[in-house]
Amino acid sequence: MQERHILGIDVGASGIKGAVVDIETGELLNERIRLETPEPSTPKAMAKTFAELVRAHNWKGLVGCGFPSIVKKGIAYSAANISKEWIGQNIIEIFSLASKCPVEVLNDADAAGLAEMSFGLGKGVEGTVLLITVGSGLGSALFIDGRLVPNTELGHIYLEGQKSVAEAYASNNARKRENLSWEEWGQRFNEYLTHLDRTFNPDLILLSGGVSKRFDKYENFITTETPVKPAKLLNAAGTIGAAAYAYQRFRKA
Ligand code: BGC
Repeated sequence: MQERHILGIDVGASGIKGAVVDIETGELLNERIRLETPEPSTPKAMAKTFAELVRAHNWKGLVGCGFPSIVKKGIAYSAANISKEWIGQNIIEIFSLASKCPVEVLNDADAAGLAEMSFGLGKGVEGTVLLITVGSGLGSALFIDGRLVPNTELGHIYLEGQKSVAEAYASNNARKRENLSWEEWGQRFNEYLTHLDRTFNPDLILLSGGVSKRFDKYENFITTETPVKPAKLLNAAGTIGAAAYAYQRFRKA
């Protein structure tokens, strides 16, 4: 194990995925291992799965973790798609106690964004870059001249005429739950992106998460002025970014 190799873990509402990452190149050093997120996704149950994933890698070093909530100094401040028991809990403490490894944590979409800005299509892009992760929820990462504005929650805005937040209407879960065709879902997602485009006027919009792999199914329904592209790192972005973030924190400490 070298210092530049860090275990990245992307904790999601449906799966917890991990791989060892070379943070200098952004490459995954093993095929990602995915474990089901326990249901209910309480801190206790998730800690057990997290530790299992660390053990599956036979890992003893630093772990970077992307987590699906607002995260400040290791504390979870929201829990839209996971157990509400997480709110107010110290994610770092819970996961490092369970895995016996030092853990650093940040919001999952922010992790995906960091990876894409370092190793993917956001590299060297000036101005405003917005990355949206499309999965169980809708997550966002906003960059201005390469600098992250952490913890934006743009999946939780309200679209005109909707009584619930955008992710309940345009996430991949909404597509599956309501059995929407790609066209129906693509039109909803376009409404969402168009609204973000008009309010933030970014220079580039990137998509990550499970649905970024299926871009060909809905790209024809996207009509935003700003170019929209699937992230180069697709679904692995969250894992890579979590590892890269942990490394940055470790170097600063
Ligand atoms: C959460 C975000 C998260 C996103 C993607 C949303 O429901 O509020 O914090 O980034 O889901 O997992």
